[in-house]
Amino acid sequence: MPPKEVAVIGGGVIGLSIGWQLAKNSLGVTIYERDWAGRGASWAAAGMLSPRTEVNMQENDLLQLGLASAELYPEWVDELESDSQISVDYRTHGTLMVALNRDDQAELEHHYAVQLAHDLPVEWLTGVEAREIEPYLSPRVTSAVSCKSDFQVNNRLMVQALIQAFKKFGGNLREQTSVRKIEIQNEEAVGIQVQEDFIETDLIILSAGCWSSQVDGLPDWVRPPVRPVKGQMIALRMEAPPILQHVIYAPDAYLAPKGDGRLLIGATCEEQGFDTKITAGGIFELLRGAWEVLPSIYELPIDETWAGLRPGSRDNAPILGKTQIKNLIMATGHYRQGILLTPVTCREISALVMTDQTSNLIAPFMLKRFA
Ligand code: FAD
Ligand code: GLY
Repeated sequence: MPPKEVAVIGGGVIGLSIGWQLAKNSLGVTIYERDWAGRGASWAAAGMLSPRTEVNMQENDLLQLGLASAELYPEWVDELESDSQISVDYRTHGTLMVALNRDDQAELEHHYAVQLAHDLPVEWLTGVEAREIEPYLSPRVTSAVSCKSDFQVNNRLMVQALIQAFKKFGGNLREQTSVRKIEIQNEEAVGIQVQEDFIETDLIILSAGCWSSQVDGLPDWVRPPVRPVKGQMIALRMEAPPILQHVIYAPDAYLAPKGDGRLLIGATCEEQGFDTKITAGGIFELLRGAWEVLPSIYELPIDETWAGLRPGSRDNAPILGKTQIKNLIMATGHYRQGILLTPVTCREISALVMTDQTSNLIAPFMLKRFA
C-alpha cells in the first residue's frame, strides 16, 4: 500500500518533479521549501542535457542513468507542458565540443575515443565542417565532435512548469518553510520539525540539494555526503537572428543559446563552501573562454550574472532510493546533471513510493554504497 501523506524536503527540480507525479497519483504531498521553490541549483543551471558529451570512462552506471533520462525527456516534456500549460523550450539542435589548438585537439581525440568505446552516436568534424554548422565559430576552431542527440531545456521555465503541475493535482507547496529536523524513532522516520511544529507523516523524501546533509536528526551513517560546488554563470542577450543554435562545449567554457535570445555561458566549478559571490576572475575566465570560440559575443549586452551551488556527493553521483531508515527516501546529489536526471529520478522514485519497485538503473546509486 502506498503511503497516504508524503513530506518532500526541498522544492528544486528533484523534489518538485517527484511531488508532481505523486500528487498526480492522488497521494497527499507537501513540499517544504525554505526559500522560494526552484531558486536553488535548479534556477542556476544551464539546462544542458548532455549524457554523451559529458561521458567519463569511469562512470558507466551514471552514463546509463543519463541516457535513460535523455530518452524519457520528449515524453516527459509533453506531459509536463500539458499539465502545466507552460512551454519549457526543449531544444533539439544538438551539441558541439570544439578544440582550438593542438593540446585541446589531443584531449578531444581522447574524449572522442571514450565516446566511441561506449558506442555513442558522435561524429568527428574538421574546423571547416564545424563552421558550416555554426558559421560564427572562430576560424581558430581546429576540430569538433558533434553529439547530435544531446539537447537542452530552459531549466527556469521547467521549474515554473513543475510548480504549476504540482499544484494542479492538489500538491501543497509550503515556501519560506524550513525543515529543521527529521524525527527518527527506532530506525523509522516518523515526522519532521518545521519551525516550532512537529508534523507527523508516513514517508519523507529528502531532496534538499546541497543542503541535504544539514537537516538535523539523521544519524551520521544516514547523513548523505553531499557538498556545495559553486558555479558562476553569465547570460548575454542575442538579437534575432541568433548567432548560435547548438550548445557548444569549449575548452574553458560552455555556451547554451536559449529560445528567448539569452546566451548562457558557464560555468566555474569551485569548492568554496556555501559562498555564492560573483568574482571578477570567474566572469573574466568565462567570457574569455566563450570569446575564444565565438568572438562575436564581444558586442553582446550582458543580461545577468549569478552563481549556484551544485549538490555534489562524495563520488559525484546521485544518491537515490531507500535508506537504512524506514520511511526515509533520498533523491539528492545530482551534481552537474540534475536537470538531465530529473525525468529518470522522478520516474524511479515515484515508482518506489507507489509500488515499492524500481528498475535496476538506480541500484548503483543507493546511499549504502558509502557505508
Ligand atoms: P536544488 O535546486 O538546489 O533544490 C534544493 C532545494 O532545497 C532548494 O530550493 C533549497 O532552498 C531547499 N532546501 C534546502 N534545505 C532545506 C530545508 N531544510 N527545508 C526546506 N527546504 C530546503 N544540470 C544539468 O543537468 N545540466 C546543466 O546544464 C547544469 N548546469 C548547471 C550549472 C550550474 C552553474 C549549476 C550550479 C548547476 C548545474 N546543473 C546542471 C546541476 C543541476 O542544477 C542540479 O543538479 C539540480 O538542479 C539539483 O536539483 P535539486 O532539486 O536537487 O537541488
Ligand atoms: N553541467 C554543467 C555544469 O554543472 O556546469
